[in-house]
Amino acid sequence: MHRIFLPLFGLALLGADTPKADPAVKPDADALARGQAVYMRTCIACHQPNGKGIPAVFPPLDGSDWLESDTTLLSKIVLRGLQGPVTVNGTTYNSVMAPLADVLKDPEIADVLNYVRTTYGKGGPLVTPEIVKEARAATANQKQPWTAAELGRK
Ligand code: HEC
Repeated sequence: MHRIFLPLFGLALLGADTPKADPAVKPDADALARGQAVYMRTCIACHQPNGKGIPAVFPPLDGSDWLESDTTLLSKIVLRGLQGPVTVNGTTYNSVMAPLADVLKDPEIADVLNYVRTTYGKGGPLVTPEIVKEARAATANQKQPWTAAELGRK
């Protein structure tokens, strides 16, 4: 019995160490309220109050496959903007999202991304102000909005 039990126990420990794609971490109510306030101030003009965007002009956040991207990539989009052809849920858009690095502080970007992912996406690991801060420093030379290709996407 012991010979079987011990290796199995070891495997279970290994399994516990493997990072999971989507731990069910949710921002708390305060963080969501802060994120919603940023959304209502900053994102609704284009992505609209219901997150559905405007067909052929502004892509939706509601159900967007981009919201499953990692926390750094999402931070980079809000910080430096996005331009040129992008495919969202199979539909191509070709417009410009202006950079918001000079408009929003790191905690505001973290809050709005957590709000958007919780409200319009499947959630996912929390975006922290530290993650945004690192992305801001690492992309300081990015003067033009990203293209999807630069972000490794379509
Ligand atoms: C000036 C209009 C505008 C504003 C303001 C804006 N966006 Fe965007 N956003 C766009 C456009 C346009 C695109 C697609 C860019 C392209 O066509 O290359 C986009 C793309 C995106 C994407 C990736 C594609 C998708 O639909 O999922 C995300 C994520 C995103 N925006 C999040 C935000 C968040 C969060 C805010 C507020 C903090 C925001 N945007 C503010 C216009 C805007």
